[in-house]
Amino acid sequence: MPNFETISSLVRENIKNLKPYRSARDDFDKGLLLDANENGLGSPVRNTLQLHRYPSPVQNELREKIASWRGVDFENIFLGVGSDEPIDLLMRIFCNPGKDAIITTPPTYGMYKVSASINDVAVKEVLLDEKFQLRTAKILEVADSTTKLLFLCSPNNPTSNSLKQTDMLKLIAAFPGIVVVDEAYIDFSRQESMAQLVQQYPNLVVLQTFSKSFGLAGIRLGIAITNPEIVSYMLKVKAPYNINKLTADVAMQAFQEVELMKFNLEKILNERSYVSEQLSHAAEVEKVFPSDANFLLFRIKNAEEIYRKLAEKGVIVRYRGNEPLCDNCLRVTIGMPDENIRFLKTLKEVLS
Ligand SMILES: Cc1ncc(COP(=O)(O)O)c(C=O)c1O
Repeated sequence: MPNFETISSLVRENIKNLKPYRSARDDFDKGLLLDANENGLGSPVRNTLQLHRYPSPVQNELREKIASWRGVDFENIFLGVGSDEPIDLLMRIFCNPGKDAIITTPPTYGMYKVSASINDVAVKEVLLDEKFQLRTAKILEVADSTTKLLFLCSPNNPTSNSLKQTDMLKLIAAFPGIVVVDEAYIDFSRQESMAQLVQQYPNLVVLQTFSKSFGLAGIRLGIAITNPEIVSYMLKVKAPYNINKLTADVAMQAFQEVELMKFNLEKILNERSYVSEQLSHAAEVEKVFPSDANFLLFRIKNAEEIYRKLAEKGVIVRYRGNEPLCDNCLRVTIGMPDENIRFLKTLKEVLS
């Protein structure tokens, strides 16, 4: 049994009472379409996508495709402008500004906190332990009726490890609110996705994205997988036509290339092993953390200086030494083979 009454008991009153914007396209998408003040002459840009028409407000075809790919039902899928949109929508649906809070587990993805600040929502932070795993008892100690959302990131950015599923399941069962599991990097992980568990746990939201394994960060397409009730709140609050036609079209094309995507994924995993091994041979590198993502976190003496010197030579990595538990840590994305070689060579030069 979940540790809360109903999903709707967690939702803000104004959202429960909200009358959403409706366009005629919610009811009709065929016929003589003179309902939406579009420009019938069309755009001067040649295309086959009928770009002078508004896109589908619900994107059912794409939702079907994604649902069958992830082994869930169409009603479990919400599509957003990147995963950043669902993060923001969840705050707006569940957290009363100035009253409610979210819980995060630093070091983790920075957007949860930024989105909370934008929405005037407090952030309670419970650090990961020294193995970058969840301190479940501490999280539950901090949880109360105002902590509406708990953000877990697995595989976690920037630490690159997956969180233990047993810990996450414990929290999903005991947390008195919504548990958001951000799986942006799940396809690089040795651990299974939790997406299919949304059928079992009404307070679970799994976030995924086309930005990482599909290599489509430019189209801005994120996915929230959750129970149909939460999906319906997200549909109610989103901007009317949040997913544009170009994005939807490219995403549909991507599903014709899943084999290539998987092939590329394997390449990245091989490169990850190579870069990790090479880094661990450098005397100055104190630790390369095991990665379940498409990046590596490593601890190196004088990390900030190394970061600056790499940048001076045109190699940009991320300095993460200001994050808790990450002193002297750098984060590097796994690139193409030649890029990885250039990174390793430049690092060698900087260290010599
Ligand atoms: C953990 C995590 N979640 C979400 C995102 C954002 O993904 P999107 O491009 O879908 O907004 C990132 C981007 O780096 C990330 O690291």
